[in-house]
Amino acid sequence: VGEAWAQSKSAFTNTLMPMPAKISAHAGELTLTPDFRLSASGFRNRRLESGLQRLRTRLEYATGLTLSRELTAIDKAVSLEVRVQSAGQEPQSVNEDESYALKVTAVGATIDAPTVVGALRGMETFLQLIQGGSNGYYIPAVKIEDSPRFPWRGLLIDCARHFQPIEVLQRTLDGMAAVKMNVFHWRLTDDQGFRMESKIFPKLTGLGSDGLYYTQAQAREIVAYARDHGIRVVPDFDMPGHARSWFVGYPELASGPGPYVLRRKFGIDDAAMDPTRETTFAFLDKFLGEMAGIFPDPYLHISGDESNGAQWRANPKIVAYMRQHHLKDTQALQAEFNQRIEALLTKHGKHMMGWDEVLHPALPKDVVIESWRDTRFLVDAAKRGYRNILAAPYYLDHMKTAEEYYLADPLPPGLDLTSEQRKLVLGGEACMWTEFVDSETLDSRVWPRAAAIAERFWSPLEVRAVDDMYRRLSSASLRLEGLGLTHLTYPEAALRQMAGTEDIDAVRTFVSVLEPYGMSADNKTIQLTPLDRFNNVLPPDPPDRYKFYVLVQSFLQHPSADSKGGIELNILFQRWRDASEKVQALMETSPLLAEGRIRSQQLRELATIGSETVDHLTKMSVVPAGWKESTLAKLKAYEKPTDMLVFTVIVPLKDLVSAVQ
Ligand code: ACM
Repeated sequence: VGEAWAQSKSAFTNTLMPMPAKISAHAGELTLTPDFRLSASGFRNRRLESGLQRLRTRLEYATGLTLSRELTAIDKAVSLEVRVQSAGQEPQSVNEDESYALKVTAVGATIDAPTVVGALRGMETFLQLIQGGSNGYYIPAVKIEDSPRFPWRGLLIDCARHFQPIEVLQRTLDGMAAVKMNVFHWRLTDDQGFRMESKIFPKLTGLGSDGLYYTQAQAREIVAYARDHGIRVVPDFDMPGHARSWFVGYPELASGPGPYVLRRKFGIDDAAMDPTRETTFAFLDKFLGEMAGIFPDPYLHISGDESNGAQWRANPKIVAYMRQHHLKDTQALQAEFNQRIEALLTKHGKHMMGWDEVLHPALPKDVVIESWRDTRFLVDAAKRGYRNILAAPYYLDHMKTAEEYYLADPLPPGLDLTSEQRKLVLGGEACMWTEFVDSETLDSRVWPRAAAIAERFWSPLEVRAVDDMYRRLSSASLRLEGLGLTHLTYPEAALRQMAGTEDIDAVRTFVSVLEPYGMSADNKTIQLTPLDRFNNVLPPDPPDRYKFYVLVQSFLQHPSADSKGGIELNILFQRWRDASEKVQALMETSPLLAEGRIRSQQLRELATIGSETVDHLTKMSVVPAGWKESTLAKLKAYEKPTDMLVFTVIVPLKDLVSAVQ
């Protein structure tokens, strides 16, 4: 793989993400003309045809060509011929064969795949290969043989804290398919809302959802849409904790006295289901049976996280039950609850999944563990013989850089697991918790960073060069926008609204050095707070962060005032200064914009530090005594989060200042 990767550094590899397992470049190219045809030979079904129709539409939009609606090859016409052997499994299996081979020559292209899902993956690669040249659009001649490293490549969307409408989920699924992710982990319940209609228990959404929920017909629609895109849907109903929304309509399920209302704050709630009453299990039996009929995937997530036991310890009947059954603590009681739920799920044809809190010796080995607190739970689960997936390093709400997510590997080389235990690690999930994310800001928190995570799960371990990842991520980001995702358009629109003008060049420059701070303990926002502030609308890890880092590193190699780096840095610092002034003027009439006042003043300071440092490094000025120490101290002070915002440029600026002799 390493070798194939090394010889594949042709220009077009800048547009691939995730990087295929094996790729070789050849001479020539396939020109895309109006005669270009898509054809399917071999196995064919509606799912494959819908994939081909989407491929055609996207090809048309990428190239401006109008292509034939026929899916049959005609003699002499150049075409992409898709040759599939079988339908694959229904429902799509964790072990579905997703492999494909894509061959492109000057006269045509072929995708060969054992299953429809493999063909869908190959079509995405084909689209990623489109290049523009002076003679129009073309696909370079290549040979690709590809299959995923991990079978479980998920994205969790929390639809409870902030409801996410169907069309938002659909475009999220479009994005997932584009980067070959294959599991939509659909969080449907939490303390702040119950989002899935039950016809047996209508008060779940009737009283527990603020009217924001998915009907059963809509849920089936999402399942079908996901299947068309080669994506499994794993629904998640958190129990016994994070369950307040159940109790608004059905307080008899709870361990403490009602009545209950939805929780508007975030964090851990004491309310928990009563695991000592048969009526609780009778309810859950009916509910899970109903859900099993809507969600065909054999896996169902019960979360089981952050149940703090407070309501159990406060209830004398539950305490007496624990004593009677020799349950030494609330963890033991939760383990017993989990065993009963596992038995119910088995009865309804489902494998149980849960977060790492459910790990307990009493639990059957059939359960799949998802590690969120720490990677060591992955090791723990695998050593004990449980299949598991990793989420801990991939929390998108932590606002880490694409680089940090990218370099976190589910199975790094040194991990203390046997090869058998390693096989139990099915993959991982990027997690989008939505305490501070609504349907407008969701895309910019998920994309494009999730694409870097998708590559981590799909591509070989050796594919991990950060500069190369960022180059390809910027092309992936544009393609994702082309699918209808709003991660690029929404922040711009929100800044215009905030600034009260269409002329936001200065605002753009101002925010190009800022990003949201991700540690939620400092966030005072509740569910009802409008999410229209800088820290809500600015994207994490903005492209300018890495660009500035690269610019500074290249300047530091040959620091001279007339070098390209020196000139660019001086221009940039001047732009920061100008932007600081203009943005402060706009703040006079925009109180929301004015919330960034401190940062805008600091930007001016940073610009001054930047140009002083370039002058010092290029011997244009004499370094005053104590300058370096006081400047580094200033940068350290600016590094702290203010108003849930952080600067993205402090580390490179420190590198610059530190280089001054
Ligand atoms: C979790 O983040 N509580 C799974």
